[in-house]
Amino acid sequence: MDVLNSKRKSNSTGRILGAALLLTVLLIVFRLSPDFISPKVVSRQEPGVTHVLVTGGAGYIGSHAALQLLKDSYRVTIVDNLSRGNMGAVKILQKLFPEPGRLQFIYADLGDAKMVNKIFAENAFDAVMHFAAVAYVGESTLEPLRYYHNITSNTLVVLEAMAAHNVKTLIYSSTCATYGEPTKMPITEETPQMPINPYGKAKKMSEDIIIDFSKTTNMAVMILRYFNVIGSDPDGRLGEAPRPELREHGRISGACFDAARGIIPGLKVPLFTLSFFFFPFVFSWLSYYKTADGTCVRDYIDVTDLVSAHVLALAYAKPGKVGIYNVGTGKGRSVKEFVEACKRATGVDIKVEYLSRRPGDYAEVYSDPSKIRHELNWTARHINLQESLQIAWKWQKTRLNGYSPPMAIG
Ligand SMILES: NC(=O)c1ccc[n+]([C@@H]2O[C@H](COP(=O)([O-])OP(=O)(O)OC[C@H]3O[C@@H](n4cnc5c(N)ncnc54)[C@H](O)[C@@H]3O)[C@@H](O)[C@H]2O)c1
Repeated sequence: MDVLNSKRKSNSTGRILGAALLLTVLLIVFRLSPDFISPKVVSRQEPGVTHVLVTGGAGYIGSHAALQLLKDSYRVTIVDNLSRGNMGAVKILQKLFPEPGRLQFIYADLGDAKMVNKIFAENAFDAVMHFAAVAYVGESTLEPLRYYHNITSNTLVVLEAMAAHNVKTLIYSSTCATYGEPTKMPITEETPQMPINPYGKAKKMSEDIIIDFSKTTNMAVMILRYFNVIGSDPDGRLGEAPRPELREHGRISGACFDAARGIIPGLKVPLFTLSFFFFPFVFSWLSYYKTADGTCVRDYIDVTDLVSAHVLALAYAKPGKVGIYNVGTGKGRSVKEFVEACKRATGVDIKVEYLSRRPGDYAEVYSDPSKIRHELNWTARHINLQESLQIAWKWQKTRLNGYSPPMAIG
């Protein structure tokens, strides 16, 4: 009997020791994993460390901003539902900053208020950079409710969580689309906001909600109205990789690169609208964009300059104050000029087809960036279109599938 008991005892001691060993090994593996940040580290404030929640940090601009913040020693938590962003971008950031307490990725949808609240409860954020959004003008005219929900309603969710968890600093990604089609150029922050498509309207509503809420608190708010963002990380780690199904709504730089890579036969540039009148006779005429070469004019801002504006905005954000800034170069370039620069940057003679104007598109939009220059000491430095496009092309041409394994072409 005694022999049997001692055998059982030694068996169970062995099992306990085995389980303890397994647990220790698992803990070590988790701690070494770049994805792992001890809940204790992120759930408490640490002197000298600013913890920034970057919503939409798997996307084009958000990932570049996260990279800059990490380089500047911020602690970063990315929240993204990967509906449009790329886990590949997050993985690159994780590899670059594997130390515990630097970068955390949380897969979540900002429309899920319960989840957002939980994220704020478990993390001691000092500030929020709210990039997450669906962001295509053309798509917004086809799916307006999606845009109001994703942009306006989700901003409300973020603000409510910030209020509930006493997070006092917000840097908000807004857009020149909130101005609509002003008659007077350049656009200053005083230019009346009269958006003409659901995307611009949803962003303007978000701005209004943020401003109204800030009046009841001592929040530090910076609203940055970006113009057209181009370019990518000069060190070639990140780039712009929208979903292939979004190509038809896509931005001009993406379309140029797709044409240069032969994914699409050529570029479709909106030039004129063809309208019909049935009274008293049927006739038609062409109404061109009222710009120098008939193609629309935009202000192209390099993503490197844009993210530096965000870091400055964070540094200059003051409790009880709302700063609103245009982030552009102050220089309008026509789509024709852009296409020529893209041809030179890629070395490909891209075919161009002129089409009728898209609904919700504006003719001429460029910024007056003097406010941000005077108040935040920021100015666009990467203003050579061809150079910005060359950097982006270098990343694009080896990545036919965005962040999927590299594939060399041409
Ligand atoms: N790209 C431009 O030219 C431009 C110009 C003006 C303003 N903006 C604004 O900048 C911000 C970033 O734009 P981008 O070009 O990087 O777009 P993007 O599509 O590359 O990135 C947006 C990110 O937000 C994520 N996201 C979307 N809905 C979400 C949700 N409900 N929950 C969690 N994550 C969600 C997407 O998965 C994606 O990773 C947007 O707010 C956009 O309106 C962009």
